[in-house]
Amino acid sequence: MDKILIIGAGGQIGVELTLALRKVYGDNNVVATDIKPAHPLLKDGGPYYILDVMNKEATLEIVKKEKITQIYLLAALLSATGEKDPHKAWEINMNSLLQTLELGVQEKLAKIYWPSSIAVFGSTTPHDLTPQKTIIEPRTVYGISKYTGELWCQYYNQRWGLDVRSVRYPGLISWKSEPGGGTTDYAIDIYIEALKHKRYTCFLSEHTYLPMMYMDDAIRGTIELMESPVDKLKTCMSYNLSAMSFSPKEIAEAIKKHIPDFTIDYAPDFRQAIADGWPKSIDDSAARNDWGWKHNFDLETMTNEMLSHLREKLGL
Ligand SMILES: NC(=O)c1ccc[n+]([C@@H]2O[C@H](COP(=O)([O-])OP(=O)(O)OC[C@H]3O[C@@H](n4cnc5c(N)ncnc54)[C@H](O)[C@@H]3O)[C@@H](O)[C@H]2O)c1
Repeated sequence: MDKILIIGAGGQIGVELTLALRKVYGDNNVVATDIKPAHPLLKDGGPYYILDVMNKEATLEIVKKEKITQIYLLAALLSATGEKDPHKAWEINMNSLLQTLELGVQEKLAKIYWPSSIAVFGSTTPHDLTPQKTIIEPRTVYGISKYTGELWCQYYNQRWGLDVRSVRYPGLISWKSEPGGGTTDYAIDIYIEALKHKRYTCFLSEHTYLPMMYMDDAIRGTIELMESPVDKLKTCMSYNLSAMSFSPKEIAEAIKKHIPDFTIDYAPDFRQAIADGWPKSIDDSAARNDWGWKHNFDLETMTNEMLSHLREKLGL
C-alpha cells in the first residue's frame, strides 16, 4: 500500500494536491506537512504535521513513523520571493531537494515527486514553443535552483536508481488556495479584483505572454505522471507541461465578457524583467507522447470556472 508524504502541503499546489491524492489513496495514506499550521481545507480529513523540511531528523522521523513510500516535495521559495532573498531561496530550494533525494535512497522510497518550473528558461532560450531540450541559462535564483535540481534528480536516478519524477509547471491559476509569490500571480489577483472592485492594476505590461495552466489540469497531470508505468518515461529531468498562453490584455478581455465594466491598467515592476526572460509558449509534446498528457482548460473555460468559484467563495 502506498503511503504519501507531502512537504509544503499548505501552499498553492499543496492544498489541492493533498485533497486530490486523499481521494485516490485514502485520507490516512496521505500525510500533509508544512512549516505553518494547517490550511483550513486540510484541518480535517487526514494526518497533518508541522515540519520544517530543513530539519532532516524530524523529516526522517515522520517517514519512519508513518511508513512513507512516496514523497511529494513542494516546499520552495518562488520566483518573485526568491529574488528578494537569493541566498535563502538557494538554501531552501536546494537543501530540501538534496535531503529528500538522500532520504529516498536511504529509506528505499518507491517514488519522489519534485516540481520544476518554466523559470529554468532564460532570455537566450527560444521564447515561442520552447522545446523540452534547448538552451537553458536561467537568470533568477529560482530558475538556477530549479535547473540544478533537475540535474540532481537525474543524477540520483542514474547513480542510485531512485524513481524521481518532475514537470516544469507554467504559471498555475487556482481559486481554492492562495499563490505563494510567483511572477504569474497576477492571473489570479485579476479575477479577485475584477469581482471585488471591477478594476485591476497589473504588475506586468499588457502584451506579456506567459504559459499558464488551470490548477485542476496541473493536479491531474501530476497524479497521472506519478501513476505512469516507469517504462513509459523517457526522462527523469523535468517534462515541459503546457495548457495555454495569454497576455494580461487577453485575460482582461476574457473577464470583460462576464463583467463588461471591468477596467485594467498597467504598472510593471521588477517582475516584468523576470517575465521577459521566460517563454511565451511551451512545446510539451514529450509529455503528450510519453505518458499521454492532455490539458482540459483554455482561457475561456478557466475564466468561467474562476469567476463562478471565486464569486461563491468571496460571497459576492
Ligand atoms: N504555483 C506555481 O505557479 C508554480 C509554477 C512552477 C513551479 N511551482 C513549484 O511547485 C512547488 C509548490 O509551489 P506552490 O505554488 O504551491 O508554492 P507556495 O509558496 O504556495 O507553497 C510552498 C509551501 O512550502 C512551505 N514551506 C516553505 N518553506 C518551508 C520549509 N522550510 N519547510 C516546510 N515547508 C515550507 C510554505 O509554507 C508553503 O506552504 C514549488 O516547488 C514551486 O517552485 C509552482
